[in-house]
Amino acid sequence: MERICLALLVAVTGCTTAPTELHQAETTITGLSVTSAPAEWTGLRALAAKRSLLIGGALRQYPDTMADPEYTRTFAREFNVVVPEHVLKFAATHPQEKVFDFKDGDALIAYAKANGMKVRGHTLIWHDAIPPWVFAYKDSPAALAQLLHTYVSNVVDHFRGKLLSWDVVNEALDEDGKIFVTRGPWPKIDSGRKPGDYVRDAFVWAHEADPDVQLFYNDYGAETLNKKSDGIYALVKKLKADGVPIHGIGFQTHIAFDQDLAEASVRANFKRFADLGLKIHITEMDVGIPKARATDPQALAMQAEQYRKFMAACLATKGCEAFLTWGLADKFSWIDDSPDKTAALLLDRHYRPKPAYAAIFHLLETP
Ligand code: XIL
Repeated sequence: MERICLALLVAVTGCTTAPTELHQAETTITGLSVTSAPAEWTGLRALAAKRSLLIGGALRQYPDTMADPEYTRTFAREFNVVVPEHVLKFAATHPQEKVFDFKDGDALIAYAKANGMKVRGHTLIWHDAIPPWVFAYKDSPAALAQLLHTYVSNVVDHFRGKLLSWDVVNEALDEDGKIFVTRGPWPKIDSGRKPGDYVRDAFVWAHEADPDVQLFYNDYGAETLNKKSDGIYALVKKLKADGVPIHGIGFQTHIAFDQDLAEASVRANFKRFADLGLKIHITEMDVGIPKARATDPQALAMQAEQYRKFMAACLATKGCEAFLTWGLADKFSWIDDSPDKTAALLLDRHYRPKPAYAAIFHLLETP
């Protein structure tokens, strides 16, 4: 047990004790030899559950991932909530004008159910992952509004009762906190109306289709007090005041290992949204490291500190109910699509815990 602490936890957290499970999982946790965890190892989810926290990640439902038993098994060992990386986006669920396709979404829900996980629905309305057929209507606000309404109603209705939450609208504001008016087709719907009215409509439509699912606005770059989070705050405050059904804010938290994000600012920001009566989810956290420094201990320690900061802010915020990373392990991560970043997650390419994992583990096990 001591060895685990020294090898993995003490450097980052100063840990002096580790639970029995960690001892049992020693070979995997230290990552020295074996490739799979003992069956009794219960991962982060057991610690999170004791604090009624949902901890999770984005599931990549590709043949290579789902056929990798270590991927699916480790995912279910560590997480009690799952968000699909792709299969609930517009292009996946409504690929053609007359076709809705829920096959992969249903498979995701079956996987989650079999493993006792909740599911975040991601995402209904976004400027990306829009299938080509939609663009035939790009110059007709009325047709766009109609197709969006049909889409939201059908998709939310299909998954009624099966999801924890929906990210109803994703990334609708620019860095100055203003509604994008030219990004993607949806803002066109508001020609002749107030920019952002389509956001309001979407929440109402989603709520009509499933009155029990939690409805979120989700965005990046809004983790601290800044112009963008001010804009989101003003938007959702108004929505709440007008009785629009919105229940939470998702902070994506795609950040860099050396990004200067003041902890006090993160906490104050989370708190102001929570004080509006909204739930907080950290929805897509990952912390990129330059490719040349992927195994550099100093970079990994700085990455761990970013994870610690956000988990601590979540634990300190009443209403912060879920903490998700955008993936499980560095083996499968969108960050590798970027030219200069890699190794952004809690587990490495061989599913071995990194200092970031240890930082989260230690916080969760500390009363
Ligand atoms: C990303 C996926 O991870 C990529 O595979 C895909 O090519 C593009 O979308 N913010 C979001 C997520 O809300 O849906 C994005 O996911 C990452 C940024």
